[in-house]
Amino acid sequence: MKFGHFDDQRREYVITNPRTPWPWINYLGNEDFFSLISNTAGGYSFYKDAKFRRITRYRYNNVPMDNGGRYFYINDNGTVWNPGWKPCKTELDKYECRHGMNYTIITGEKNGIEAETLFFVPLKTLAEVQKVKLTNKNKEAKKIKLFSFAEWCLWNAATDMENFQRNFSTGEVEIEGSALYHKTEFKERRNHYAYYSVNVPIQGYDTDRESFIGLYNEFSEPQAVMAGKPNMSEAHGWSPIASHYIEVELQPGESKEFVFVLGYVEFESRDDKWESKGVINKKPAKETIAKFDTAAKVDAAFMELRAYWDNLLDNYVLKSGEEKLDRMVNIWNQYQCMITFNFSRSASFFESGVGRGMGFRDSNQDLVGFVHQIPPRARERIIDIASTQFPDGGCYHQYQPLTKRGNNDIGGGFNDDPMWLIFGTVAYIKESGDFSILDDMVPFDNQPGTEKTLFHHLTVSFNHVIENLGPHMLPLIGRADWNDCLNLNCFSWDPNESFQTTENNSEGTKAESLMIAGLFVVCGRDYVELCRQIGNNEEAARAEKFVNDMIESVKKHGWDGEWYLRAYDFYGKKIGSNENKEGKIFIESQGWCTMAGIGLEEGMVQKSLDSVKKYLDCEHGIVLNNPAFTEYVVEYGEISTYPAGYKENAGIFCHNNPWVIIGETILGRGDYAWDYFRKICPSYTEEISNLHKVEPYVYAQMIAGKDAFKPGEAKNSWLTGTAAWNYYTITQFILGIKPAYNGLEVNPCIPADWKGFTVSRKFRGATYKIEVKNSGVMKGVKKLIVNGTEVAGNIIPMQPAGSVNTVEVIMG
Ligand code: BGC
Ligand code: NOJ
Repeated sequence: MKFGHFDDQRREYVITNPRTPWPWINYLGNEDFFSLISNTAGGYSFYKDAKFRRITRYRYNNVPMDNGGRYFYINDNGTVWNPGWKPCKTELDKYECRHGMNYTIITGEKNGIEAETLFFVPLKTLAEVQKVKLTNKNKEAKKIKLFSFAEWCLWNAATDMENFQRNFSTGEVEIEGSALYHKTEFKERRNHYAYYSVNVPIQGYDTDRESFIGLYNEFSEPQAVMAGKPNMSEAHGWSPIASHYIEVELQPGESKEFVFVLGYVEFESRDDKWESKGVINKKPAKETIAKFDTAAKVDAAFMELRAYWDNLLDNYVLKSGEEKLDRMVNIWNQYQCMITFNFSRSASFFESGVGRGMGFRDSNQDLVGFVHQIPPRARERIIDIASTQFPDGGCYHQYQPLTKRGNNDIGGGFNDDPMWLIFGTVAYIKESGDFSILDDMVPFDNQPGTEKTLFHHLTVSFNHVIENLGPHMLPLIGRADWNDCLNLNCFSWDPNESFQTTENNSEGTKAESLMIAGLFVVCGRDYVELCRQIGNNEEAARAEKFVNDMIESVKKHGWDGEWYLRAYDFYGKKIGSNENKEGKIFIESQGWCTMAGIGLEEGMVQKSLDSVKKYLDCEHGIVLNNPAFTEYVVEYGEISTYPAGYKENAGIFCHNNPWVIIGETILGRGDYAWDYFRKICPSYTEEISNLHKVEPYVYAQMIAGKDAFKPGEAKNSWLTGTAAWNYYTITQFILGIKPAYNGLEVNPCIPADWKGFTVSRKFRGATYKIEVKNSGVMKGVKKLIVNGTEVAGNIIPMQPAGSVNTVEVIMG
């Protein structure tokens, strides 16, 4: 069952039924000011950091869920409704929500009044702009009342939910004309305030929540709206809000547009904060308001945003003949990569915005799906991430975007983390050709005076693995590797402990990870190649020896006969072996060791992937482990806490399915690779939206696996490394167009019955129009013709910036 449809022309998903099986959301803003918006206009706004600069309030875990947000209420002679259906849930005559690239348009119609509401954050603007267009489709004139509503959060989203003895006394507002200002704590240490304005004179307002809603009322029946009369309330403490009241008269056929600006102001200097004693300096707010004070100005800013996205998405355009694939590659997967790049794992409808900042491993992986869009932003991110590293190559697991400092609450010790810095940096250099980043001076733990080159950071990353080897000469796992829930040194019996942060028992540990071993071989080879590129052959030779040693260790101690082991536990016992009762086989080590091609000649890669097919594959994707754990295993940690089939305990982790897909492309099995890809690809599961539950236009982190109560049900949409990994996999391994140091490598691996495809790819300023032709094979490039001339090998040589080149690829 579907709840809408794709509109590829406009790059939108059009929701036509507001009762989606879960709120289906979108993100507004792409640099500093951000909002989340659901298909019924729920959600919230923040500046840079969803924890420390939360602007509007949101109640996670509320009943009903997704209540609160920014709402427009219409009182049409006693009938009260919202354009987005909620919160009044008055049955609408028409409802439509169009989620597009950083904008959302929600349209509702009731009794001949149409309300179209456009929400977006204009480029380089610290505000959400909302344009409300009211149209009277009736034969007679209408007088209606429009109320806006936004509820302020008292800046820190965590204390906002906790410290009521203080919070209920601090709220302060200022009201001037049609602008309602939120200045809580501005008098003391804050250098920022927020405001909500509209571009017409208002006939009233409310700024105190209880006055507007009524203490015993719900969002669906605010007393001011029901009575058709605002209270002109001024908030002093309690819960400040902003609500405008506008009386609107519409002739038959007439439309009127109103522009609302929900904005944020920050001062660099304390001296600029005040206009006069107790009166905030409104100049910056007024400047922003003036930029959007007519519908025409808003339309122009909206066109700019659309042009921005046209331009970004123009970098990679696929025509495969598969409509569902093209819309993912050309639109939604790239869009999700931008969103994960911006937010890491901080703010979604599954991440509260208070728990997590930017992840070291997460952000490095995210940028691999984003780097072709805006390489300079990826560059900046790499430097930010590397600045939180420790001198021994270890890393803070997370950092806060506002301060860019490592997060002490989470700490470090995840031994896969250092490798991802190599992974991200190499992807950036291959895309941009910018080797100069390696010479950038980057501190450790953000301490001035500790700066070393970024290349040195990569060296200590590499060394961190080889300096932390266990008894089988395989990498020690530390707190955990990519799988945050395989906590082999944790031994926790206290339900109040976090598996990720509690004291680890690593003295004398033998816990080793085959996932890190495979990751090390892949990234280690990248490091070796990078060293050669910059002429550091000595370091290349040193590193290569360690990579080869690791390959031998895996073959010797990491092979179980039919697949790669997953790990050794604290005591040195096998995990992910046929000898185990549960968790006999895991996806992560099959993925990374096959990607690394370890034991390819000996048949290990094929055996491993055949075992994946046999034991891990199911209708909805590849599960993480099998059999699922049915008991808590204290020496394994969080993985065994989840009910069977969910999350890291045999859920389908859409993030690591691509690792197996890449493994399949190494073997050349294009049909298997494609089959796995399609199973988890959102546009291909749109038809089962009622089961799947979350948005059909973006990936979810997890789909319940075959052992679950409800296989196929997905959770945790949007903020997941799945976005980058699937984009990386489809574009670079299935379609096979891969940035290399000296050009664009072409090496597709597709189902034999695909006749071919075309890709237009911008790369370092030049455009490549690539046509791949296939007659019955899955892999192999027989001929490569660049601008009419045949080229040896399968690398398209670099062409001058600005040039448009035609490339013909004949597979065979
Ligand atoms: C989740 C993991 C996540 C971790 C982060 C765990 O509860 O299952 O997916 O990475 O928390 O702290
Ligand atoms: C989500 C986390 O963000 C990511 O870092 C981790 O690798 C996966 N969960 C798997 O546990």
